[in-house]
Amino acid sequence: MDRIRIRGGQPLHGALHIGGAKNAALPLMAAGMLTDDRLLLGNVPRLADIATMSALIAQHGVAVVPDGRTLSIGGPIDNTEAPYEIVRKMRASILVLGPLLARVREARVSLPGGCAIGTRPVDLHLKGLEQMGAVIRLEGGYVNAAAPGGLRGAVIVLPFASVGATENLLMAATLADGRTEIANAAREPEIGDLATCLLTMGARIEGVGSDKLVVDGVPRLHGAAHPIVADRIETGTYACAAAITGGEVRLVGGQLAHLGAVAAALRSAGVEMTEQDGALVVRRAHGLHGADAMTEPYPGFPTDMQAQFMALMSVAEGAAMVTETIFENRFMHVPELNRMGANINVHGASAIVRGVRGLSGAPVMATDLRASVSLVLAGLAARGDTIVNRVYHLDRGYEALEQKLAGCGADIERIPG
Ligand code: EPZ
Repeated sequence: MDRIRIRGGQPLHGALHIGGAKNAALPLMAAGMLTDDRLLLGNVPRLADIATMSALIAQHGVAVVPDGRTLSIGGPIDNTEAPYEIVRKMRASILVLGPLLARVREARVSLPGGCAIGTRPVDLHLKGLEQMGAVIRLEGGYVNAAAPGGLRGAVIVLPFASVGATENLLMAATLADGRTEIANAAREPEIGDLATCLLTMGARIEGVGSDKLVVDGVPRLHGAAHPIVADRIETGTYACAAAITGGEVRLVGGQLAHLGAVAAALRSAGVEMTEQDGALVVRRAHGLHGADAMTEPYPGFPTDMQAQFMALMSVAEGAAMVTETIFENRFMHVPELNRMGANINVHGASAIVRGVRGLSGAPVMATDLRASVSLVLAGLAARGDTIVNRVYHLDRGYEALEQKLAGCGADIERIPG
């Protein structure tokens, strides 16, 4: 298994490009299954998860044709099973369920199972689809779903603003018979991007960007071309990299608007951010001070930025309270950061971070995508060498991470394992 070695202490200076959002690309690829025509996605990031989703969609019989940073998806579905071998590698595989039911009225999708950060149930996806007329039976670790008469519109109230459930139900509703309302819908920018793409494919959706989506089903959708929105989590991650090293970096393509609560937290910690010529310029000229963060559905502070922000707070002056309200086990970066000299104490869903003057490099273990990158951030600021193991987690969500950081002066290299 590859490892990454970082020799910390270099303030980052330079520019790096922000890619298309992984968490927009995955549902958008599933949306390509809603029509036989071709959906042309642009600004596609080169990530392991994109390759996994491509393989999953292709084994449903739908042609997936990459061409540089463009991906074209479309064609008839001739297999309605999403096998455990693929689904277990990537939970977002569950996003083919809605499109399969909407297009061919049946699906056999492996339950994703849990992952390191939590049990990750999909009950909200299934309940919503049942309200739309699907008959669902769980057997042998699979979701066996059928809608022989086709899906029909329904009024769905999500008890929690689930991102994946909102995406699955939105896609299913575009081809359902009648009107579907999704109340307490998640409002993440990736959902707005999916809805925008569906509209260009001929879907009828109102309330995009709000917590109430109203969809009038249509008989069929047609092809379209859609550029994937910039990755706000990648943007926030590299903003933390600039801040933790005390440098100044131009994040080309980064959008301040989508950083929302992350920008507010970074600014209160002493980080300066300004938009200039299509780039987000992030700099930290003076000291960092502790700032609190509580993860919440958008527009709150995103859970996918919690680990990165905690790494930053570990070298801030003063204390910071970081509270995780979305997932039940998303503090696995804490013991690894503490091995690097951080002073973090976890009490239930909250962690109190007491800033230290500096971190020291160490061999550390990655456990999930965002915990992995928080260890890279800590390594950039630490004295000496940090070796991050199991970097396959990173490759799922960060394209060319070492090259982007080395391009801004970081002393970082991948050691093939
Ligand atoms: C999406 O996961 C993202 N993944 C996650 O990013 C992100 O952390 C999460 O949204 C929250 O923003 C993709 O977009 C591919 P949820 P998802 O449904 O859809 C509970 C990353 O690092 N829940 O909003 O799975 C669930 O257990 C990944 O890029 C149910 O109880 O998130 C969790 O506690 C990690 N029942 C909470 O809701 C359900 O049916 C949030 O889940 C669905 C969810």
